[in-house]
Amino acid sequence: MSTMGSSLCAAALLAFLVFSLRLFVNSCHFRVHKGIFTNGTIEDGFVMERNRLVHELNERRKEILPFLISSGVKRLLDESGHFGQHQSFESNHLDISLENESDVSSGSIRMNKDHIGCDQLVDMKAVDILGSGYTKIVLKVVLSEGQSVALKTVYDQGTDMGRCLEDFKDPLGCHELVSFKLKKEIVLLQRLQHPNIIKLRGHCEDSVGAGGITAILEQGFPLQMIQLLQSPWEERFRVCLGLVRLLHYLSHSPLGSVALLDFQPRQFVMVSGELKLTDLDDASVTEPACQTDQDCILQFPLRNFSLPCSAQGVCEGLNEMRNLYNAYRYFFTYLLPHQAPPALRHLVDHIMNSTGELKGDVNDTLEAFEDMLHLYKSGLHLDNMPPSIIRGRLLASFQSGFSHLVTDGNSEVYLKKTKASPGTTV
Ligand SMILES: Nc1ncnc2c1ncn2[C@@H]1O[C@H](COP(=O)(O)OP(=O)(O)OP(=O)(O)O)[C@@H](O)[C@H]1O
Ligand SMILES: *[C@@H]1O[C@H](CO)[C@@H](O)[C@H](O)[C@H]1NC(C)=O
Ligand SMILES: *[C@@H]1O[C@H](CO)[C@@H](O)[C@H](O)[C@H]1NC(C)=O
Ligand SMILES: *[C@@H]1O[C@H](CO)[C@@H](O)[C@H](O)[C@H]1NC(C)=O
Ligand SMILES: *[C@@H]1O[C@H](CO)[C@@H](O)[C@H](O)[C@H]1NC(C)=O
Ligand SMILES: *[C@@H]1O[C@H](CO)[C@@H](O)[C@H](O)[C@H]1NC(C)=O
Repeated sequence: MSTMGSSLCAAALLAFLVFSLRLFVNSCHFRVHKGIFTNGTIEDGFVMERNRLVHELNERRKEILPFLISSGVKRLLDESGHFGQHQSFESNHLDISLENESDVSSGSIRMNKDHIGCDQLVDMKAVDILGSGYTKIVLKVVLSEGQSVALKTVYDQGTDMGRCLEDFKDPLGCHELVSFKLKKEIVLLQRLQHPNIIKLRGHCEDSVGAGGITAILEQGFPLQMIQLLQSPWEERFRVCLGLVRLLHYLSHSPLGSVALLDFQPRQFVMVSGELKLTDLDDASVTEPACQTDQDCILQFPLRNFSLPCSAQGVCEGLNEMRNLYNAYRYFFTYLLPHQAPPALRHLVDHIMNSTGELKGDVNDTLEAFEDMLHLYKSGLHLDNMPPSIIRGRLLASFQSGFSHLVTDGNSEVYLKKTKASPGTTV
């Protein structure tokens, strides 16, 4: 009763929240304009604020333009760099790669069973807030067929929006400005596809007309570092392996070498035990330009690294090295060494050393991880086990329901293996 009551309550609250925010945005916008026009004179300060906002908006447009052009999908923006003019919630005109799934070979979303159209959101139920940050808020919603997805949209009460309002006092303009971060993320999610990047299942434009946008994503669970620290080594290793595979992909992506400028555990979620990147608005696809090696310094609180400036005048490999060191300091140091199987410890040490000192690149790191995976899967680290047992690893799962799984430390399980189907009879 209480669970049901509280989720209904949450849904009602969310609906109200969204509704009243829209109202707020609209009425503020109205008031500002009324102010100007009834007075007859337009204050200089206001004009300057306006110009700065327009300038900012143009900068954000320019920032995402290259991704669109490189994907051959210029029509997402019109000549002035505006997203298309249709503002209907159902509009699909932004679904660039959906309209032409054949051409953007490595970056396209196929129009398949995974795609969710905006019309499918009409009778959705918002059941929970999955998370929020400076810029965006993520809601869990249940569609009419019962499947749940994550909706990511601009957080009208977030820090980003608040700061913009302070600067420009223009709710509608700020909504549009902040929305560009999500637009950039959507375009990047369309172009960058990998098992360790959250899957974009569709997106919709707001009906209000403030350039707002909502991303429909596969639903995950925020990464709980504390919880992960307490989980078995195998699980922690899986997370690190997924991260390294992701970084390898990002280094050789269709857009070039991608750096995650804001690299923290909260930019990731877990989907069925797999780590997935969800926050892409702070990604950069250009390596810094340089004149001397002095321009290619990677600074971290506890370490500085210097990279060579290439003949072409770019800090080549800087994006990759930045990601790799961040993986080391935010993930590997906490997750990898603790309780590593003794026979794998030398490999773990090697990885810690090579990433912590940036001695190896992402290819070397991935190779070391895949080697370790191979060793682990083959059971070679289990010194005392007879080969007959480690040939096929047995996994048994007993459950009466999926809702609330707890470890039972007091139980023992005995397996009886038969000749006919080894390992399957319990
Ligand atoms: N697909 C998803 N499933 C479940 N939770 C998600 C999903 N995507 C994001 N979240 C949660 O929502 C939070 C906010 O999302 P996101 O990081 O994109 O917003 P942000 O405003 O850019 O955050 P930050 O201020 O950390 O940069 C994430 O930290 C994550 O916990
Ligand atoms: C209207 O204009 C006058 C100057 O003509 C100015 O003093 C006043 O602050 C303005 N009021 C508003 C609401 O902009
Ligand atoms: C889709 O791609 C095909 C072949 O690449 C091309 O002929 C067609 O014009 C494209 N359609 C749109 C709407 O871009
Ligand atoms: C990194 O470089 C900066 C700027 O040169 C310097 O101030 C800082 O002390 C250095 N940090 C370390 C840990 O060496
Ligand atoms: C890392 O490498 C350095 C130099 O090669 C070595 O002195 C150090 O012991 C290594 N550390 C680990 C943890 O292996
Ligand atoms: C790293 O791997 C990628 C893809 O597997 C490859 O294209 C690239 O040349 C490799 N880089 C180096 C320096 O070996």
